Amino acid sequence: MKQFLLLFAFLITVSQVHSQENLPTDYLSKEFHKGRREAFRNLMPANSVAVIFSYPERVFSKDINYNYHQNPDMFYLTGYKEADAVLLLFKEAQGTEKYNEVLFVRERNAGKEMWTGRRLGVEGAKSKLGFSTVYNGNDFNAFGIDFKKFDKIIYDKIPTDLEGNKSGFDLFGLLQIFKSKAGITTENEASIDLFTNITNSLREIKTPEEMELMRKTVKLSCVAHNEVMKAVGPDMSENEADGIHAYIHRKYGAEDEGYPPIVGAGANGCILHYGENSATKMDNQLLLMDVGSEYHGYSADVTRTIPANGKFTEEQKAIYQLVYEAQEEVFKICKEGTPIQDLNKRSREVIAAGLIKLGIITDPKDARIYYPHGCSHFLGLDVHDKGNYMGTLKENMILTVEPGIYIPANSKCDKKWWNIGVRIEDDIAIKKDSYENLSAESPRKWQDIEALAKQKSTFNDMKFPKI
Ligand code: GLY
Ligand code: MN
Ligand code: MN
Repeated sequence: MKQFLLLFAFLITVSQVHSQENLPTDYLSKEFHKGRREAFRNLMPANSVAVIFSYPERVFSKDINYNYHQNPDMFYLTGYKEADAVLLLFKEAQGTEKYNEVLFVRERNAGKEMWTGRRLGVEGAKSKLGFSTVYNGNDFNAFGIDFKKFDKIIYDKIPTDLEGNKSGFDLFGLLQIFKSKAGITTENEASIDLFTNITNSLREIKTPEEMELMRKTVKLSCVAHNEVMKAVGPDMSENEADGIHAYIHRKYGAEDEGYPPIVGAGANGCILHYGENSATKMDNQLLLMDVGSEYHGYSADVTRTIPANGKFTEEQKAIYQLVYEAQEEVFKICKEGTPIQDLNKRSREVIAAGLIKLGIITDPKDARIYYPHGCSHFLGLDVHDKGNYMGTLKENMILTVEPGIYIPANSKCDKKWWNIGVRIEDDIAIKKDSYENLSAESPRKWQDIEALAKQKSTFNDMKFPKI
């Protein structure tokens, strides 16, 4: 009987853990994440503990959640992609067992997994993520840790808009336990600053493994931009162009987009974060597409602006060429040692001079009316990635270079310029004496865009029933 019971228990366990097949083979390795924890630990002060939580789940509609997206810092340090988890990192080894990290994960539950997907659980976190000390979230309360004995507790901003679920061991529950154990009533700014400084300095420099994923996400996003350049015409909707990007991203294995795609024609291209993508056709307007994939957590951020009918008008070309020249001038200073703020300054100087020459402004300060955003940001796990924006460029940083000019209708200039919105955005890796443009495979010169637009796209031949 005992043997029978053991066999039964074994069968249940096995039937619960049949793992997923045919997964990508180029996920970041557990050694990568372990290495990042080691690097984090090296930057921690003596006698400190860092506490990192997963991101909350968010409602999409009534009882349906948005697809879950992990907190990039949690992913960076663990590879864990599920909700309701907390990581403790210690500067010094703890207890008689001498552990220096503990991960609390979501408990395995066959019933829940059948509804909402597989869970790694304690065993999976050990075997797949390489942790030695792992517990279920419901063990956090009883876990013998005296947070008050540490000189510093390092943590990020704590979300304040959560409601707990019945289990008590979801993120809300874990946060309550942490705050009560650590005696936190109001967030400590210094703790959050320290967390931010450590993660900034780690994540602003990409490791070779990250560089490989960044190359991939940017390259496949360029394929999508190029295909839309070939496929687009005055009768295409913004949403369909958006869909072509999404299809190509998935075709090459990207799980998602790194941010809500901006696909806007004419006046819509003058709205910086336009996301409705709802115009049913583009007519003979400029189409601004700011779309980048997320591949294994890493985001591309590429913008191309193209004439929907394949040919720039004189006015469109004049604005486009000015944005192009601003980008070229910024590229010239992209190398180790340049203050990051100089990229913005340089692009602003070029655009101001160009707008004066075109008679659109008379005072260089007014360039801000038509170029209201910054030129560059770090790129990686977050599209606006972590890093020290007051520092200088360093080898293996990845940043965008994205000047733009946007002239909405009723602007105080000749109306021939109205409804022209242009942004050109590339993703560059910094080298010692120069840079590499990771998005060079998508054309930026107006002549090259017009030439590519003449080619046929496979999407032009797709036939679907009328409905
Ligand atoms: N796609 C958002 C940005 O360019 O910053
Ligand atoms: Mn950007
Ligand atoms: Mn962008």
